[in-house]
Amino acid sequence: MGNVEFVVCRDDNGKIAAFHNVCRHHASLLVSGSGKTSCFTCPYHGWTYGLNGELRKATRISGIEDFSINVFRRDFGLVPIKVATWGPFVLLNMDNEILQKDNIDTDNVASEWLGSSSELFSLNGVDTTLTYVCRREYIIECNWKVFCDNYLDGGYHVPFAHKGLASGLSLDSYTTSIFEKVSIQSAEGGSKEKEDDRLGSKAFYAFIYPNFMINRYGPWMDTNLAIPLGPRKCLVVFDYFLEASF
Ligand code: FES
Repeated sequence: MGNVEFVVCRDDNGKIAAFHNVCRHHASLLVSGSGKTSCFTCPYHGWTYGLNGELRKATRISGIEDFSINVFRRDFGLVPIKVATWGPFVLLNMDNEILQKDNIDTDNVASEWLGSSSELFSLNGVDTTLTYVCRREYIIECNWKVFCDNYLDGGYHVPFAHKGLASGLSLDSYTTSIFEKVSIQSAEGGSKEKEDDRLGSKAFYAFIYPNFMINRYGPWMDTNLAIPLGPRKCLVVFDYFLEASF
């Protein structure tokens, strides 16, 4: 949500860091897209930062009085954002209070993000064993809250709008459970004879306030992020994951 520009990177030791994607010189956007790099070089005047955010090079600035790269390496480094991982997810926290803390207890990440529902995610196979497959993005001509509202209707639309899905689920077993910031809908798969290979024996649909959804079914998991583009338009980003054995 919002328009905060950020960059997330992982160094050779596997350490993940996140920063505001803004150069400390004249506030140019620093990078875009994704890929591999050993440093970030600003496209405006070439200031260069390491993957730890420290300023490594300030181009053609050696004659400036009182500016020493060795002194200002940290002071003019990229502004960090707190980052943590949980399951297959990388999570950023923009909360200013949390930014002040030097250390976040990563054991608390699950409960901070998912509250008392966090164990249900692990029990339903939302974990690091899943392999990332691909991303698909869709622009939908509706307000982002309409997309979320449809997701949260407790399966009411499923028998009519998703007949194929409905035939692979036991809709009588459909339940909705509400937690602090999470709503979980789940349903058993159809009978053994009718069990859908793609759906497996159970479907688990979790909505995390305000705009993120995690869907776990059979060997698959997909996540949906609904991003507002205007009053009548949103972008929904689908990321697909698959169990490693498939
Ligand atoms: S704005 Fe980045 S180097 Fe000048």
